[in-house]
Amino acid sequence: MAQKDIQFTMLAKDKSGARRGEFTTHHGSVQTPAFMPVGTAGYVHSTPAKDVEESGSQVLLANTYHLSLGDRLASVKYVGGLHRFMGWNQTILTDSGGFQVFSLPDRVISDEGVTFSYEEEGERVQLTPERSMEIQRDLGADIVMAFDECVSHTADRKYVEESLALTTAWARRCRASALQEHQFLFGIVQGGIYDDLRRKSAKEITSIPFDGFAIGGVSVGEGFDLMRRVVSVTAPCLPEDLPRYLMGVGLPEDILEAVHQGMDMFDCVIPTRYARQGTLFTRMGKLRIKNKNFRKDRYPLDTHCSCYTCRTFSRMVLRYLFFSGDPLAETLATIHNLTFYQDLMTDIRVAIEENRFESFKREWLERYRKNR
Ligand code: GUN
Ligand code: ZN
Repeated sequence: MAQKDIQFTMLAKDKSGARRGEFTTHHGSVQTPAFMPVGTAGYVHSTPAKDVEESGSQVLLANTYHLSLGDRLASVKYVGGLHRFMGWNQTILTDSGGFQVFSLPDRVISDEGVTFSYEEEGERVQLTPERSMEIQRDLGADIVMAFDECVSHTADRKYVEESLALTTAWARRCRASALQEHQFLFGIVQGGIYDDLRRKSAKEITSIPFDGFAIGGVSVGEGFDLMRRVVSVTAPCLPEDLPRYLMGVGLPEDILEAVHQGMDMFDCVIPTRYARQGTLFTRMGKLRIKNKNFRKDRYPLDTHCSCYTCRTFSRMVLRYLFFSGDPLAETLATIHNLTFYQDLMTDIRVAIEENRFESFKREWLERYRKNR
């Protein structure tokens, strides 16, 4: 059991239901609503941690599955833990492996856990709730996630019912496992697209003394309307006084919607992955930097952005760098997209403090969508 309290402080609540909070881990305070960039295998692609920090990020996400492959866990331990490994001295959250494992083709699920083959070695291994907790304890993240089964939105009712029971049993085993003293543990609610099963899962998971609660099984191809519905059914079943994390979400419009429904934390590969593909976010919508329209465009990516990339380079130069194939293009693009996301989170937090989240959301989306 975590020895400390996560000390989640509700700083403001907007009339829409959006929440503005703060919590503290062993590695500093986190302002919510918060967006967590993804550093799956112990690094954010193409981008030094100092630049991720400069974007305004306060939490990074890494994955149990990728960090347990081969000798990686031994390497992380050898250098003194995940914070040193990542060159990141603020909060880190590790996901349990539940999500990655369930996308593997040859997985076999039992009460005990999941057996699967590692992509890289082909060696068959078993990941159990206990093993996931042990790996996450050794990695040393500030927040660790319970081991769950992420079910597809297409799974039928009977499958989801059985899976949900397994996820609850596994959650209890995770809570009973030893962690480092400073580590917080979050439970994950599943239940597919069935409203009553979501409520049932939330009831069971929130009966376990976790330090925060996540909604899982979204952002698995179900689309905006279903995601919205799942969140609107599940969020009200979560305790008011602990952080609420929507896993794997998402696009700016998804985050705005989920904040509206009372969610506090988000993670997604979109800003970093899109950046490497040349899709850049701006307050006027997304922009494909390789498009020939930008051949002679001397404006920065976004005139309202003060990131290093926007202060230094024009769209035409960034376009040139992308076509040159040099990794510098990906780095500069990632710096911008992460700054864009963190600026959005800052603006969201201020709007909630000023009790005008709904009009902020409407106006933000209007401008963002105007040029589509
Ligand atoms: N990341 C995105 N969705 C999920 C989920 O349902 N479970 C876990 N563990 N991680 C996720
Ligand atoms: Zn920028």
